[in-house]
Amino acid sequence: MIDLDRVRADTPGVAHVAHLNNAGSSLPPQQVLDAIVGHLQREAEIGGYEAARERRELWEHTYDSLARLVNAHRDEIAVVENATRAWDMAFYAFRLGPRDRVLTGRAEYASNWIALKQVAHRTGARIEVVPDDEHGQIDVAALGNMLHDDVRLVSLVHVPTQSGLVNPAAEVGRVTRAAGVPLLLDACQSVGQLPLDVERIGCDVLSGTGRKFLRGPRGTGFLWVRRTLIEELEPPLLDMHAADWLPDGSYRIRDDARRFENWETYYAGKIGLGVAVDYALELGIDVIWERVGNLAASLRAALAEIGGVTVLDRGAVLGATVTFDVAGVDPVAVRDRLAERSVNVSVMEASSAQLDYGARGIAGAVRASVHYYNDDGDLDRLLEGVKEIAWSRS
Ligand SMILES: Cc1ncc(COP(=O)(O)O)c(C=O)c1O
Repeated sequence: MIDLDRVRADTPGVAHVAHLNNAGSSLPPQQVLDAIVGHLQREAEIGGYEAARERRELWEHTYDSLARLVNAHRDEIAVVENATRAWDMAFYAFRLGPRDRVLTGRAEYASNWIALKQVAHRTGARIEVVPDDEHGQIDVAALGNMLHDDVRLVSLVHVPTQSGLVNPAAEVGRVTRAAGVPLLLDACQSVGQLPLDVERIGCDVLSGTGRKFLRGPRGTGFLWVRRTLIEELEPPLLDMHAADWLPDGSYRIRDDARRFENWETYYAGKIGLGVAVDYALELGIDVIWERVGNLAASLRAALAEIGGVTVLDRGAVLGATVTFDVAGVDPVAVRDRLAERSVNVSVMEASSAQLDYGARGIAGAVRASVHYYNDDGDLDRLLEGVKEIAWSRS
């Protein structure tokens, strides 16, 4: 069980806001903040390069922590600036041709979709969308039927930005493994929220971010690439960190996942990310997942009781993100009126989720995303605010 008093005491932000925008960026624990500020301080005292050298163990430890988090090896991990770059560095490394197909699902993330389409335009590869099943999650049977020899890659968003859905990643992994097709898993919203085990899931590439459910710093992300795939994937961008410049003028790309990184990096963030991962591992991801699931379920149930409020989440398994609509009120106005009560939520627009919201005719939604450190008081403040907004409709 989560020791709520302890985790709230570790989280200075809870004194100021009911933060229900954890799918955007969580409140970090003090330990993460101290690690970042401590390193920045050291850089200011002795110089950036010198501080990185002095504290090498701290930032190297982040690779061990991330590897432990997803049940992988440290040489399969790259630490980069965000989940989008992590995903891109792997995706653009797949060499697609005009006869290739790439499959994705309706939960696909806007930036991933744009990258998919760019590559499709350049190469002639086809992007096909696997339908949802009756629960609103990816239809694994339909995916199986679409997996012919010409499929080069399957892209799956584990937990989308725009809803509480948790896609059945391990079932998808079973099908892609059987077909011998690489599975690229966008775990940006699931990492830190629920258990992730790349062996159990059977994915080949996984991308994640620091600032969301891991409670790490902004401007941090990571990529995991299965060892056997690393040397097959030539990064779309190379520099002198990803590769060595040889005396004969040629270059040699490094053989670990750091080939997907670049030389200059945010060392303070990298250290802070490791501290955030350790904090989550110490609490226990299973325990976090249980609490997050319960909090979100009770929030959905309470919202559904309010006249004029429609909860929009669909899926056989639902996680931390709760999306809803207040009839006749623009989601932006809902967000702003809640902000006046120091309740943080965010707004999702169809342009972030065309394959999902677009297809369901949803123009926008309010997104309230819980984390384990939220308490009943936070949820009550949100619910009181939503009631007032719903009841004061003209
Ligand atoms: C599902 C999903 N994938 C990828 C991203 C991109 O993450 P980042 O902003 O760290 O690049 C997000 C961000 O909201 C997301 O929700």
